[in-house]
Amino acid sequence: MKNDEYTDLKMLATFVAQRMEMCENEWFLNQDMLNDVVNKISTFSIESEEKSSKEKTLADFALEKQGVSKVSCVSEDIGDGSISEKKSLQELYDTVCGCLRCPLGENRNKFVFGDGNPQADIMFIGEAPGGDEDMQGLPFVGRAGKLLTRMIEAMKLSRKDVYIGNILKCRPPGNRDPKPEEIEKCEPILIRQIEIIKPEIICTLGRISGQTLLRVKSSLGSLRRKVHDYHGVKLIVTYHPAALLRNPGFKAPAWEDLKFLRREYDGMEL
Ligand code: URA
Repeated sequence: MKNDEYTDLKMLATFVAQRMEMCENEWFLNQDMLNDVVNKISTFSIESEEKSSKEKTLADFALEKQGVSKVSCVSEDIGDGSISEKKSLQELYDTVCGCLRCPLGENRNKFVFGDGNPQADIMFIGEAPGGDEDMQGLPFVGRAGKLLTRMIEAMKLSRKDVYIGNILKCRPPGNRDPKPEEIEKCEPILIRQIEIIKPEIICTLGRISGQTLLRVKSSLGSLRRKVHDYHGVKLIVTYHPAALLRNPGFKAPAWEDLKFLRREYDGMEL
């Protein structure tokens, strides 16, 4: 492929990713066709002048925004203890992107590292990738993800201002809850991401991510509206956007949480 064709495709991919991030639904394609287009763009092949080729996906562009290049992903496993030594998201990604420490690695389509601003003050943390995330290699890109994008925008921020990640980097089959042994293997990656990004505040999405990170069994209701401590970082718990889609009655209390989060972050009253 010639350089200008590659640039056109890259621009198209960036455009599609931005439209999707902005929850623009007014496509002339239906959702299935749109997913097709995204998947096709995601797997287009880039051949250099020397005829060597490499895969470039929307997730790669998201990683680039974080200063991470996927080309260097060569690892197949992560050595014990090595994660905490990694100095940058790139080094961390290189170490963990081929992780096979738990069986979820065998069945994943894409490793979902994270997305957003590598210097973000606010991090949103969900449970684990779902089907759309596993296909695209990006967190929160399905229906719940689009609602999360709107929630972030309602806070007068954009997805590009924050960092979005999950406790697990690979999709559990059938979107079941993460198992303790999976969390034990995967959480060190998240902890290192937090240490590198150094957010001022973390917002966990849903009961499971709140309970998991805080090592408690308390109900979501009792965890909300408080500022917790997670490895020295402020942590606030709110509903998972998927729960808001199932129960629109949770939207009003979730909005209270987001206002609380914004107030706690920089004092802004929404
Ligand atoms: N739900 C999550 O918890 N994380 C995602 O990335 C997508 C859906």
